[in-house]
Amino acid sequence: MPYARHHTAVNSRNHSSEQCRRCGNEAPHCSCWNSEAKPRAAARLVEPGDIINQKYQIIRQVGQGATSTIYLVRHVVSDKLFAMKMLIRDIPNFEEKRLRFEREANAIGSLNHENLVSLYDFGISSSGHLFFITDFLEGKSLFKLLRMEKFLKWDHACRVFLQVCSAMHYAHLHGLIHRDLKPSNIMLIAAANNIELVKVVDFGIVQFDDSHIAGELNERLTQEGTVVGSPNYMSPEQCQGHKVDHRSDVYSLGCLMFETLTGEIAFPGDTPMSILLKQVTDPPPSMNEFIGVPAELGRIVLKTLAKDPQERYQTMEDLQAAISRFAQLRV
Ligand SMILES: Nc1ncnc2c1ncn2[C@@H]1O[C@H](COP(=O)(O)OP(=O)(O)O)[C@@H](O)[C@H]1O
Ligand SMILES: [Mg+2]
Repeated sequence: MPYARHHTAVNSRNHSSEQCRRCGNEAPHCSCWNSEAKPRAAARLVEPGDIINQKYQIIRQVGQGATSTIYLVRHVVSDKLFAMKMLIRDIPNFEEKRLRFEREANAIGSLNHENLVSLYDFGISSSGHLFFITDFLEGKSLFKLLRMEKFLKWDHACRVFLQVCSAMHYAHLHGLIHRDLKPSNIMLIAAANNIELVKVVDFGIVQFDDSHIAGELNERLTQEGTVVGSPNYMSPEQCQGHKVDHRSDVYSLGCLMFETLTGEIAFPGDTPMSILLKQVTDPPPSMNEFIGVPAELGRIVLKTLAKDPQERYQTMEDLQAAISRFAQLRV
């Protein structure tokens, strides 16, 4: 039974933490894991100790995405620590991935918000690998935390959701739609005042709102009919390759909220196709059976999961206000 298999993966600590690039679940326990879906972790781009462009010394690898590897690096002059995201070259459709990578750097560079990383540099290494430099985030992803804890208590979860809403509302106001909100793209950093700081990362499949940036590149990467994203978190319109707007991110956050509060995937399936189908056709799952999830919060999540974007919260700010009202009433 697929759900059981997924949760075996979630609960076990003795396995690889690689993520399936198709469904976003933990691999290799997800059912669609195969050589094509596997991130190319084996493709070592650089080694610890290497100095890139006479500026950044590689300390160690800290993350692995589907198309890139993230390293902790030290700036050799200032001695400051940064994160370097490096694009893997040996991947299918490299040209498209390269354009997306450049666009990601462009997107991050245009934003300045405490719940997003800042861009410091962009370059190409002498071995021909594109990279960009951002703040190094010392913490763990929500994906890793859920793997350890299975779900978060509602008050902790709400503190995370509110910060994600804040970052996304800001990004939406700047004409950017993330399109890949999921637990592995949410970083949690323990702050000095004991309040966890949340950072949304990975603008790898960002879409620029037409009204902000037009042009051939934008059109090529956001053409209708192109389906990109992680099936477990994709809105019905995204699954169908329709044009999406910022309300698609509201839906993805709804899937993330459901999973964070319950430890269950909202629309689980055996194959990417079966998940996409459920996202499009299955009614949103009820949260009543999950003891510990307050009914009012459950209703907020259900509204974000409406199939019709018109029936969801219309902005991240509205969603943030609803969560905030709920959280204030409970304390
Ligand atoms: N700035 C950072 N500091 C520390 N770790 C990071 C940072 N950015 C990403 N990571 C880690 O690397 C993983 C992959 O990064 P991500 O940007 O999502 O790559 P991809 O676009 O290939 O999915 C994240 O899940 C996170 O664990
Ligand atoms: Mg990612």
